[in-house]
Amino acid sequence: MKVLAILYRGGDVAKQEPRLLGTIENQLGLRQWLESQGHEYIVSDSKEGPSSDLAKHIKDAEIVITTPFHPGYLTRDLLNTAKNLKIAVTAGVGSDHVDLDAAAEKNIDVIEVTGSNVTSVAEHVVMSILLLVRNFVPAHEQIARGDWQVSEIARNAFDLEGKVVGTIGAGRIGYRVLERLTPFDTKEHLYFDFANLPADREKAVRARRVEDLKEMVSQCDVVTINAPLHEGTRGLVNADLLKHFKKGAYLVNTARGAICDAEAVKAALESGQLAGYAGDVWNVQPAPRDHPWRQMKNPLGAGNGMTPHYSGTTLDAQRRYAAGTRAILENYFAGRPQKAEDTIVKGGRIASKAYGAK
Ligand code: NAI
Repeated sequence: MKVLAILYRGGDVAKQEPRLLGTIENQLGLRQWLESQGHEYIVSDSKEGPSSDLAKHIKDAEIVITTPFHPGYLTRDLLNTAKNLKIAVTAGVGSDHVDLDAAAEKNIDVIEVTGSNVTSVAEHVVMSILLLVRNFVPAHEQIARGDWQVSEIARNAFDLEGKVVGTIGAGRIGYRVLERLTPFDTKEHLYFDFANLPADREKAVRARRVEDLKEMVSQCDVVTINAPLHEGTRGLVNADLLKHFKKGAYLVNTARGAICDAEAVKAALESGQLAGYAGDVWNVQPAPRDHPWRQMKNPLGAGNGMTPHYSGTTLDAQRRYAAGTRAILENYFAGRPQKAEDTIVKGGRIASKAYGAK
């Protein structure tokens, strides 16, 4: 069987650190095992354009493994060339880089390692909320520059205690964020999702569902996005919605870059409508050098907490999603069913409620 994996290049760092399993150097730790079973294993980071390894090898691969961190975009056009493909495995969480409708039409199952990095992301969200609210990044930059001017930082630094935090999406990550925020004595937690959380789970994190998104964001000091990217969420946070945010609110997005309109977010930050924006996901990855989110700042020259896409790829997370990828392949080779919670597309239809399955 031919197995193709599109992963990111780790370089010398990945040779020094074998726990960087999600790289082309360390290959999810699968090479020896796959080859011992007689499978062919192609691993590459080349994913863009018709002469990429992705375009070349997808034509006859039976299994493709991709990762959200260096997304091999499995577009309809590309899937049309994939004559043998039966299963697309996402080593991580979030399969929006796969055209799910096209995969369903072609009977290609899409399976991801659900839950593998949700705690990693939730921790990053909490960190990002704190670094924005407390104005941490410019404070550190000031120290690294050799300066010391407390007033410049403190004029825009607040406590998280007493603030209202809302999440768009209260699934595995969104709920974990609320759990982790509860001991901070925030004023209230709001959420916008398709359905109510069970009453005991709501109570445990002091959460209240708001059915209208504009109404929710208008009440929040901090908004965090924790929903998948699909047609219902693409561009959801646009210029119109941003007008409904409280002036000077903070927005944290570790879900997917394309859920936000990049230029609208930049304009909102530069006008002070948003006091801060942080996250690790971009509408194109790797983000181009001139991406507006790299340099954007609020009127006080702060409020940018962007990083490359790494919140869900800590070494702990890599161990879990590499093991989960192997478990999915073991199920496939043995003809066993995949775990229901890992299944995004199955048997010609979208099976995951988070991606809109009824
Ligand atoms: P989940 O499936 O447990 O939760 C997602 C929640 O979003 C569900 O409750 C669903 O009902 C809700 N939702 C879907 N569409 C919505 C909409 N239009 N409005 C409001 N809520 C909506 O997924 P999980 O594990 O919490 O992950 C969420 C997303 O986070 C992933 O799909 C992925 O895009 C992103 N992610 C990012 C990572 C990173 O490294 N930055 C790593 C892991 C996930």
